[in-house]
Amino acid sequence: MAANVHAVYFSPTGSSRAMAQEVASVLAQDMSLTHAEDWDWTFPEARAAEYNVGAGDVLVFAFPVYAGRIPQLLLEPLARLAGQGAYVVPLAVYGNRHYDDALLEAVELFFTRQFSVLAAGAFVAEHSYTHNVGTGRPDAQDMQALNAFAHRAASRIAQGAGERVQVPGNRPYKALPPAADIRPKTLDVCTQCGLCASVCPVRVISENAPQLTAQGCVRCCACIKICPEQARIFDDPLVKKIVGMLEANCVARREPETFFAGS
Ligand SMILES: Cc1cc2nc3c(=O)[nH]c(=O)nc-3n(C[C@H](O)[C@H](O)[C@H](O)COP(=O)(O)O)c2cc1C
Repeated sequence: MAANVHAVYFSPTGSSRAMAQEVASVLAQDMSLTHAEDWDWTFPEARAAEYNVGAGDVLVFAFPVYAGRIPQLLLEPLARLAGQGAYVVPLAVYGNRHYDDALLEAVELFFTRQFSVLAAGAFVAEHSYTHNVGTGRPDAQDMQALNAFAHRAASRIAQGAGERVQVPGNRPYKALPPAADIRPKTLDVCTQCGLCASVCPVRVISENAPQLTAQGCVRCCACIKICPEQARIFDDPLVKKIVGMLEANCVARREPETFFAGS
């Protein structure tokens, strides 16, 4: 059976999706593989489904860095993948602060699932919490860097097996912040159009009464970004503090970083 390339992503605000698709498309072309359907893990139904990986397949796995780590809701679907020597190209997509241990966590996780990990990258997107950090990223320069990365990844994979790629990061991985029940507020200008509920990756927004948000929000900001009335906001002091820290310290442009096994 011919091998497939799949873009696999969790992407509430779309940056990881765009990056995964770009890299998958170049890899499929360069390696003459089938560019098969995306595995979009943004919504719970897709995260619960079964996915079969063929031995020669290539997955391009892009995820937003949350608190320096892989979003923890991805651990369960990832643990159900069996690599059987298939290739994966992990992309840590972060909001211009840092990716900390997220890329290392991804590389090690795939390695334990019997994937071959020969190329990986960390790329910048606008920060979900504020338009003032990573503004307009990924931009044309980022997409060019992704394209160049994908060509190099394709030739590295074509060379065949090797030691797994070395990426920055520490063990134990960065401690996750204590769970906090923080949910966006809905202002009176809400027209109950329901767009917010349709993009929520954890389905905590009521479809019939979108001003009601149940516990379990992961603060991805998809509902805030999509609202045509700007009716959804975080007015929690912790989120305000994080935004202040980001806007004070994380505005200087960070550049993509790429890593290849044996080079
Ligand atoms: C809960 C949360 C935590 C985040 N933590 C980080 C972080 O540790 N470092 C960073 O640079 N960006 C961080 N970000 C920003 C996202 O990584 C960035 O906006 C992401 O690439 C958006 O991906 P998406 O467009 O695919 O949803 C965080 C965003 C959220 C919502």
